[in-house]
Amino acid sequence: MRGTRDLLPPETALWNRIEAVARSVFERYNFGEIRTPIFEDTALFARGVGEETDIVSKEMYTWEDRARAQSEKTQMLTLRPENTAGVVRAYIEHKLGESGQLQKLYYIGPQFRRERPQKGRYRQFSQIGAEVIGPPHAGSESPVRDAEVLEMLATLLDELGIGGWTLKINSVGSAQDRPKYIETLKAALAPVVGQMCGDCQRRAETNPLRVLDCKVAEDQPIIDGLPRIADSLDEASKAHFAAVCAALDASGVPYTHDHRLVRGLDYYTRTTFEFTHGGLGAQNALLGGGRYDGLSEAIGGPKAPGIGFAMGEDRLILTLQALEQAKAELAHAYIAPLGEGQNAAALKLARKLRRDGVRVELGDGSFRLKKSFEAADKVARAMVLLGEDEAQSGILTVKVFATGTQTKVAEAELVAFLTGLAG
Ligand code: HAM
Repeated sequence: MRGTRDLLPPETALWNRIEAVARSVFERYNFGEIRTPIFEDTALFARGVGEETDIVSKEMYTWEDRARAQSEKTQMLTLRPENTAGVVRAYIEHKLGESGQLQKLYYIGPQFRRERPQKGRYRQFSQIGAEVIGPPHAGSESPVRDAEVLEMLATLLDELGIGGWTLKINSVGSAQDRPKYIETLKAALAPVVGQMCGDCQRRAETNPLRVLDCKVAEDQPIIDGLPRIADSLDEASKAHFAAVCAALDASGVPYTHDHRLVRGLDYYTRTTFEFTHGGLGAQNALLGGGRYDGLSEAIGGPKAPGIGFAMGEDRLILTLQALEQAKAELAHAYIAPLGEGQNAAALKLARKLRRDGVRVELGDGSFRLKKSFEAADKVARAMVLLGEDEAQSGILTVKVFATGTQTKVAEAELVAFLTGLAG
């Protein structure tokens, strides 16, 4: 069926490995697992995620559940398009806030959205997500929670072997800041929206924040000139965001502040974020999340600020497969002659290794060592340094990129050493 897939071995082994790594990281950060039903009352998503969002207005699988007996009411039910609303519903239903503790809950499971299928976008897809939620006196509003969730995500991606991610963060302000900004945005859009794409013209009416998401090239100069949400934030929201950034700086997690990151769900307040990866193409969001300080109240619960994220497991798998493919294409070694005087010896060594079946990239003695390192790191698994000492002694210095280690290897052992390196 369109937008759905069968997962078969050996790929399912990769899914299981990813889930095991995620569970072990969640455990270390003291999260427990929650499993909620895959269908819920339609009203939960309409009120929680927002009637005007693309998800609720266009993408949900909804049906009328017919009454079986006269006494039963018909109900509108929906396959969950996301899991935050379900988790908060469960938090309310089981009175989890009464413990006075923060609830730290994670989930792994299928979600459903009727989107146009393409690489990385399916109608049934799986999310790995987590939520931190609780009464304010448990510290649920603290910027430390935001930073901790982001730091956990950096750790999770690193442990999964996904390098090269980018973290973008922003603040969409409090429940009071947002309507203020939307008014400012509407006013700024009014004179220019006629020159924008059809989608933007529609969004300017229904959900002006989504204009900031537009990818149409001609619209970009107009969007760059629109007022920024940062200028509409109240002092408390500004201070909260500054504290999140300061905690991230201290923890060493790299990020960029993206003024246009507003996200497509209505429940967000203050911090929003996305991790992207270049290997994914158009659907480059690996995961997204943020704060939802008013969601519990919006669906009839007590005040229970929270923050969380969901990661597209399908996209995680695609990224890992692309990275493995790229590794498989790497040369075994890059030979770096140290000085032009070593060019001839390097060519001789390359010839010998290539004859023995080793895939070799030959550098250039005129390069500075730093330049050789950068070139080698892109195309090979290891770099063989060939200076005067090495040429004379026949003992070569080999830097292995995967481990960062530097080893002395005798020329006679070099073929076995290089071909034995893992991808
Ligand atoms: P979301 O940004 O709608 O957020 O989805 C999170 C992630 O799910 C996306 O970054 C993407 O990787 C994946 N995803 C979404 N739609 C599809 C699709 N059609 N096919 C494949 N992958 C997809 C949420 O769902 C929020 N509940 C996240 C959250 C949790 N915010 C706070 N807590």
